[in-house]
Amino acid sequence: MAHDLSDYRKSYEKRELLESNCPENPIELFRDWFFVADESEMVDEANAMTIASIGLDGFPKSRVVLLKRYTWEGFIFYTNYNSEKGKAILNNNRVCLSFFWSGLEQQIIIKGTAEKLAENLSDGYFESRPDGSKLGAWASEQSEVITSREELDQRLASFEKQFENKEIPRPKHWGGFIVKPVSIEFWQGRPNRMHDRIRYTLQKDFSWKLERLAP
Ligand SMILES: Cc1cc2nc3c(=O)[nH]c(=O)nc-3n(C[C@H](O)[C@H](O)[C@H](O)COP(=O)(O)O)c2cc1C
Repeated sequence: MAHDLSDYRKSYEKRELLESNCPENPIELFRDWFFVADESEMVDEANAMTIASIGLDGFPKSRVVLLKRYTWEGFIFYTNYNSEKGKAILNNNRVCLSFFWSGLEQQIIIKGTAEKLAENLSDGYFESRPDGSKLGAWASEQSEVITSREELDQRLASFEKQFENKEIPRPKHWGGFIVKPVSIEFWQGRPNRMHDRIRYTLQKDFSWKLERLAP
């Protein structure tokens, strides 16, 4: 079987990224781009991002998670610490986040180090989730092999019973990671493959060095 996609070609011409529009701190630029993406009808789930980590098997693996908060310090998402990604990150905390907002012809690539979020912050976020999601965190041994869909549904039913009319606490194996950036690259599609790429790299004095990269 061969499915030839070599004729697929799109010209990117919606926006540009010039140094004159780049603030000193990349989080500010992230905030500006995120705001536009979030408001745009051309972007579905602006906060969906890919996180790549190096697995215990030595292979990189990426998967989508949801950005739940960002601050001057970093980018926060929630997951199961015992999942494949959780174990990978706890073994090697160097990760890469990326956003691709096709409708805006934009990509953002963030390299950084991930740390477990403070317990009280994970507690706070967990409390804000609907009960169904809370129970899901208990029921799913994320990334483990299971025998069937029924097994999963039965686990959910048993936790529903266990926590009936009770407050559902955060499982200790579930919580947030904060990814503290060391470099952030902003990519804006331009015509003729002459895209704009601006990379910020964190310096020892915590300032950011800004460089333009060839597309
Ligand atoms: C749009 C979308 C959002 C997702 N959000 C999360 C999330 O915030 N946290 C999470 O653990 N998994 C999330 N997932 C599921 C992950 O992609 C992945 O299947 C899961 O975390 C297990 O990955 P792992 O086995 O590599 O650890 C999301 C998937 C999609 C498609």
